[in-house]
Amino acid sequence: MLKVGLLGAGRIAGVHATAITSNPGSTLAAVSDFYPENAQKLADQYGSTARTTEEIIADDSIDAVLVATSTDTHSDLIEAATAAGKAVLCEKPVDLSLERARACREAAAKTGKPVMIGFNRRFDPNFSAMQAALTAGEIGKPELLSITSFDPAPPPVAYIKVSGGLFRDMMIHDFDMANFMMGEAPVSITATGSSIVDAEIGQAGDVDTAVVTMTYADGRICVIKNSRRAVYGYDQRVELLGSDGLLQAQNMLENTVVKSTTAGVTGAKPTYFFLERYMPSYAAEWGAFVDAVNGGGALPVTLDDGITALAMAEAATRSAQTGQPVRLEDV
Ligand SMILES: NC(=O)c1ccc[n+]([C@@H]2O[C@H](COP(=O)([O-])OP(=O)(O)OC[C@H]3O[C@@H](n4cnc5c(N)ncnc54)[C@H](O)[C@@H]3O)[C@@H](O)[C@H]2O)c1
Repeated sequence: MLKVGLLGAGRIAGVHATAITSNPGSTLAAVSDFYPENAQKLADQYGSTARTTEEIIADDSIDAVLVATSTDTHSDLIEAATAAGKAVLCEKPVDLSLERARACREAAAKTGKPVMIGFNRRFDPNFSAMQAALTAGEIGKPELLSITSFDPAPPPVAYIKVSGGLFRDMMIHDFDMANFMMGEAPVSITATGSSIVDAEIGQAGDVDTAVVTMTYADGRICVIKNSRRAVYGYDQRVELLGSDGLLQAQNMLENTVVKSTTAGVTGAKPTYFFLERYMPSYAAEWGAFVDAVNGGGALPVTLDDGITALAMAEAATRSAQTGQPVRLEDV
């Protein structure tokens, strides 16, 4: 039984608390938050105990921590927890600074403790089935990957200002999805961004609409499209053209009713946002972590994967600023 400390008691921590307490291989030993009352509330909800982050890390009876704190704390907490002998599952991104994330990898590697990064979309039943079909050779060699990822509505500008920008905060999931499907990182990244949804996002130095084109050593291509606004709901689709066929993962809908009348054929909207769409993936992600740590097996997503995706976000940010393609090896 893995004894777990949950660091952070915000929005995503609630989802993780459910996953930890639902898994027969793990127990929620303690919860912390920068605001103790938040930790207490979440701990009460799940029959756990509120403690400080420092107390959890120093407690030798706790085997693992799940880092669900604000992004600017991730590298420090990965380093502290691994140094204290704990396994770590940390939310994305590893850091907003690629340099800091690389230093964190070095420090964590010295401890030999397992660190997994929370790219939950790899555990979405649709995308994992797609990747399994690809790996089984069902569409031959992948040639052209298209990822569409539109949020229903932009977050507050105050959030945008500390987010690290669309490429590090939002598209990072799609960069990891591309790596998951293509089996390797691209060579070159070209990005175009615009603040067409909300001028205030542009004034804050970010973009809300972006397209990235990535090329691979063997000539394969990936296109990622992001927008902070899709008025019909959370639009999350992946399409992969291979030498022997096509794989498509469509949106999850609010229901499966299709209405056909003389006016036309209509159906339900996509589920509203990430909590609705990806809920099963968070439980599967946690299950994979627990199985790997309890069983001593390899982690399905590593700190290296987190750093590769962050490097791609850095390359895309630079490309969008300069209008030039950026080679991944140059970041
Ligand atoms: N994988 C996903 O789908 C997904 C979805 C949402 C958020 N996230 C990531 O999860 C992280 C948290 O996001 P959120 O939306 O839950 O934010 P949030 O602001 O709701 O929660 C973060 C919490 O961390 C607390 N905190 C800050 N420093 C702390 C520390 N040292 N010890 C303990 N608690 C501390 C804050 O007080 C806050 O309550 C971010 O890095 C974000 O990128 C991932």
